Amino acid sequence: MKLAIIGDSHCIDPGGPEIEKGQQRHHFRDTLESQRRLCAAIREESPDLVLSAGDLVDWCSPANLAFACSFMNSMGVPWEMTPGNHDFNRADHSEQADAAALWQECGVATHNRVIEAEGVRLVLIDSHNSGLPDSTGSWLDTLCAQPGPMICLTHVPWSIPLLRDLILQRQPGRDLTKYVQSKAPDFYQQHAAGRFLYTFFGHLHFAAQTRLNGSRMNILPLSIEASDREYPEQGRFVMFDTSTLKLHWRHIS
Ligand SMILES: [Fe+2]
Repeated sequence: MKLAIIGDSHCIDPGGPEIEKGQQRHHFRDTLESQRRLCAAIREESPDLVLSAGDLVDWCSPANLAFACSFMNSMGVPWEMTPGNHDFNRADHSEQADAAALWQECGVATHNRVIEAEGVRLVLIDSHNSGLPDSTGSWLDTLCAQPGPMICLTHVPWSIPLLRDLILQRQPGRDLTKYVQSKAPDFYQQHAAGRFLYTFFGHLHFAAQTRLNGSRMNILPLSIEASDREYPEQGRFVMFDTSTLKLHWRHIS
């Protein structure tokens, strides 16, 4: 089974009602051309499933959700997401209390779940608020009682020294209360260490790779190319083959 794994897309409906906010965020609003190229690259790779690591929309509104779903549906294959902070926040950055329900109305799940992919379990973990749902640890412990390779997808990186150092070396100004799972500081050691063959994160808007306890960790860059703004390594995504357990990077060119 071939998986396409994409990082932040920050979709904004260019015809949506929040015009002023759209103008402020024009670097993400004016990305139709790069969305088209992402879609074409995905179609060319012909994956069986597309996975978004969150921040599929720039803010949570009915218009943006409909626009993002239409964009993802245009890839012509099934897709799933785990939410990012922007997927659950309003235009003013406050939390949209019924965000999960709004996504569900569009047919999109956002909760912790497992997707079976021909012998590989894809574990989607909701870290949108830099924390984790209460039951995540016990749920994961139960999952890990069964053997077999597992791949994790979660928006915000684990709060571990390796990733904190990597982020600060790359971009020293980053606020680590926001850019790692600061509300779940012990989760990795207690429940996740060594359990995933690969983990994919979003959130940072740059690409990075590292490895710990036999687990490869990948921070995904923007899946699209922003308009009038350059984000490091933007416009790349991962193709992952569940039969070989190998990945390759693809540019949307
Ligand atoms: Fe983002």
